[in-house]
Amino acid sequence: MSRTAKSILCALLVLLLSLQILSGCSSKKEDETPVDPQPVEPVTPDTPDTPEEPDDPKKEDIVYTIDNIRDYVIGVDEPMEMADGTMAPIINFDNAATTPPLQPVMEKVDEEMKLYGSIGRGFSLKSDHSTDIYNEVRYTVLDFLNADPDQYTCFYVNSTTDGLNKLASALVESEDDLVLCTRIEHHANDLPWRERCKTIYAEVDEDGRVIYEDIERLLKENEGKVKYVCVTAASNVTGYVTDVHRVAKMAHEHGAKIVVDGAQIVAHRQFSMAGETPEENIDFFVFSSHKMYSPYGGGAVVGNWEDLVAHMPEFYGGGIVKLVTDYDVSYKSAPEVYEAGSPNYAGVVGMAEAMRVLKEIGFDAISEHEQRLNKRLIDGLKQLDKVIIYGDTENIDDRVGVVTFNFEDINSYVLATQLSYTKAVATRRGAFCAHPYVWRMMGISDEQAQTYENCVDRNTPGMIRVSFGIYNTEEEVDRFLEILKGLLDEARSATLLDAEAIPEY
Ligand code: ALA
Repeated sequence: MSRTAKSILCALLVLLLSLQILSGCSSKKEDETPVDPQPVEPVTPDTPDTPEEPDDPKKEDIVYTIDNIRDYVIGVDEPMEMADGTMAPIINFDNAATTPPLQPVMEKVDEEMKLYGSIGRGFSLKSDHSTDIYNEVRYTVLDFLNADPDQYTCFYVNSTTDGLNKLASALVESEDDLVLCTRIEHHANDLPWRERCKTIYAEVDEDGRVIYEDIERLLKENEGKVKYVCVTAASNVTGYVTDVHRVAKMAHEHGAKIVVDGAQIVAHRQFSMAGETPEENIDFFVFSSHKMYSPYGGGAVVGNWEDLVAHMPEFYGGGIVKLVTDYDVSYKSAPEVYEAGSPNYAGVVGMAEAMRVLKEIGFDAISEHEQRLNKRLIDGLKQLDKVIIYGDTENIDDRVGVVTFNFEDINSYVLATQLSYTKAVATRRGAFCAHPYVWRMMGISDEQAQTYENCVDRNTPGMIRVSFGIYNTEEEVDRFLEILKGLLDEARSATLLDAEAIPEY
């Protein structure tokens, strides 16, 4: 410390000491006698001694819209290290697989964690609080899906796959039960049925849309025998939205119920369990919340009270019983009987907040946004030499934000790898857990497909998939198209040089 600074400090100390002596504010007076402590009046929240923390107006006042939502998606600008060691933020076009978290969802989960207690089991204020929220969210889910609480309830699951497996284990009663699936299905809405009972499949047309007449034909040919019709609401391969209410009507006319895989619709289009008439109502709807910006696990199965109460899944443990004795068990009813084990509270809280934000943005705005991105990408891809774009590229209104493509002379594994590791563009490549559908779209016969050992290496044909989220932009689509153009020659050469890569797809 300089001499001048020291002198200033000394002068200040002397001044402070003098002021304290003058005002009689020394720490303890010599002649002071101790007095009994008097009871202290509690400070009520209405008369605080200290000023209140100012509210964070930003947080309270935010209205989420399709135009500002990108600012509230976590990680969109987070740089990642590419193959050459440089850092770049990722263009994330893999939202059909999973979506990044929304900031309000993370904040809500963090807030609730302070009050977290065991669900339905504890004797504590926190347990009561968490149990109340946990059960209230069932109504949030029903409201989000326009499901009348007098007709429907819901149980929580870890994911769509978990939900469909639990549902199939509950609904299928015999190996001889007959279930009608379609060839557009993700494996999650095919294998849980296929492995438990007899399944038949309605075909897709050349563009890849479900053929409704084929569903009708199969229902008629098996009059009264089909118990469930299982169909996706939106395809994870082509993005086609199925008219599931039309399918519901057909199913009901032939004595069947409908199970809808909602994984790819919940964050993209307004979904309603209610049809225009009661015959068009959906019986079961299953979805995951990690595809709706709440990656804490979780999801739900919505179903008719009477159906769920009449069954229970093959999934046992605590929380689902009324009483167990040495040789007897009595079980609770729906929805609890579908939720053995301690539940995923963070998943439930995050899901409810994600639903609130998505509703605030509005599904009309989300759908319009996706249509714009789809059109821009499809139009841009069409300009590229030897491109193959799967599905209908003229009438695209019935497609959520999913576009799959290939180049006739480029191995898709090679190209997707280059996109990811040299250009920081995230896509998905392969057959997307919907193999029979992908082989159909690629013109690959079942016999040919049976020769493949797995679905993920460069020896196996696959598509490249771009799937959009609410936060993707038209600028990202343009950048992607530029990047793609710039990579094509290199990808063509790499395809030829790569001894393991099959030359096409
Ligand atoms: N089913 C998800 C997808 O299509 C994982 O990528």
